[in-house]
Amino acid sequence: MMLVIGFFSVWAAHRATRPLRSLAAAADRLGLDVDATPLPERGSRELKKTARAFNTMQQRIKRLVDDRTLMLAALSHDLKTMLTRLRLRAEFIDDAEQQRKAERDIDDMQMMVDAALGFVRGDQANEPVVRLDLVSLVRDMAEDWRDDDVRFEGPARLAVNGRPVALKRAVGNLIDNAVRYGGNAEIRIWHTDHDAVLTVADDGPGLPEAELEKVFQPFYRVETSRSRDTGGTGLGLALARDVFRRLGGDLTIANRARGGLMATARLPLPAGPA
Ligand SMILES: Nc1ncnc2c1ncn2[C@@H]1O[C@H](COP(=O)(O)OP(=O)(O)OP(=O)(O)O)[C@@H](O)[C@H]1O
Ligand SMILES: [Mg+2]
Repeated sequence: MMLVIGFFSVWAAHRATRPLRSLAAAADRLGLDVDATPLPERGSRELKKTARAFNTMQQRIKRLVDDRTLMLAALSHDLKTMLTRLRLRAEFIDDAEQQRKAERDIDDMQMMVDAALGFVRGDQANEPVVRLDLVSLVRDMAEDWRDDDVRFEGPARLAVNGRPVALKRAVGNLIDNAVRYGGNAEIRIWHTDHDAVLTVADDGPGLPEAELEKVFQPFYRVETSRSRDTGGTGLGLALARDVFRRLGGDLTIANRARGGLMATARLPLPAGPA
């Protein structure tokens, strides 16, 4: 008898918490993708109410994101048109030095606007996720990296699910940062039980602890790297983190004990045979 009651309570508890588990899973999905399928609105009155409230919240978040994306895209687009006009006008500046400076400012603005447009368009959103070999993707990039000090170490192959073009751009940003700010790049790939892990390390100056999270903000650049020769737009890390997070992984950076910076990207290993 006790055994039957025991089994029954476990079964009842399992059954009662099922809707909660599906709510938790839906919240997780929403964190990765605002277009995730809404929760089914069924079950008891309370459950229906909760599911409906969750779905309404998802719709509101989606509208908010869409509105902001649209506004930014419209703004970037108009700015582009004005920049083209400004470039024509700059040709009429008599003073050669002033003309050169104006053109340089216009180039910088053009670069920022292009990058912003790509960012808000979520260029990667349209690229399908496929099973790919992370090792060959990264090794090829490392081997093709101009003549800089870029080294690669990893297993023969490692299958992950990903968007190849977006991943190349993300990894390219990490290698570019290591080389540009640190002078070299040591790339390694390995895996744990659950994740594929990619690290890109350099022997440069690293970053003050207070900057480690800030550099992931779009357009944020550390004061000393604002000079023209190391100039970028400050979008590289924001974009790269977005790429890994959309695949259920993440990207973090940390200072190495021996000096220099190390970026660590993780991607969940696919279930089932490679
Ligand atoms: N390996 C590194 N060592 C030291 N500082 C770094 C390193 N990587 C990034 N940073 C700092 O973080 C800032 C943000 O990097 P991020 O890649 O987002 O933008 P960026 O390199 O400036 O421009 P973009 O990548 O868009 O061309 C950089 O400007 C730089 O100050
Ligand atoms: Mg960069």
